[in-house]
Amino acid sequence: MLKVVVMVSGGGTNLQAILDAIDSGKITNAQVTAVISNNPGAYALERAGQHGIEAVCISPKTFSDREAFNQALLEKVKEYAPDLIVLAGFLVTIPPAMIQEYRGKIINIHPSLIPSFCGVGYYGLKVHEAALARGVKITGATVHYVDEGVDSGPIILQKAVEVKEGDTPEILQRRVMEEAEWKILPEAINRIANGERSVS
Ligand code: GRF
Repeated sequence: MLKVVVMVSGGGTNLQAILDAIDSGKITNAQVTAVISNNPGAYALERAGQHGIEAVCISPKTFSDREAFNQALLEKVKEYAPDLIVLAGFLVTIPPAMIQEYRGKIINIHPSLIPSFCGVGYYGLKVHEAALARGVKITGATVHYVDEGVDSGPIILQKAVEVKEGDTPEILQRRVMEEAEWKILPEAINRIANGERSVS
């Protein structure tokens, strides 16, 4: 059974998609053992609690400096001894020491077709604003392994989503979530949990 720790900063709809997929049997051989947030107000923490999953917050604001926060974050993650760490809307740079410790065991969901609209500064609505500004007709989402760069690790899964006339960033964000993110993130976890090595 793959032990999964999910890291979140916000609403946690991707977390919800993972939990639903486990409940419905779309993900097998995996369990979410903990949800960690940097943000005490993250609704994702409540979603975890409602599911009886341990939910913890480690806020950078409660540490004297970044290094102390990074260390505490890594220590907390290690307590759960995860086989897989899923960044599901986690808006904190992963400490290099964590990447070294869990190389090949950290995955992220990004709301565009990498290598478009990714890298430094492309997060949240900004990704969709940029896609609309460029006038692309197809966007999508990507699940990838996390390395030292920003959105630069090996790609696991991608799914395309149509951009429609009159889309706002908010409308496009919602469609990308519904049609791509909530599908490919659970699917990637299921593949990893079931030993499909070909995904990397
Ligand atoms: C998603 O768009 C994800 O791709 C991005 O952050 C957002 C998180 O949304 N990395 P949620 O918290 O899962 O609802």
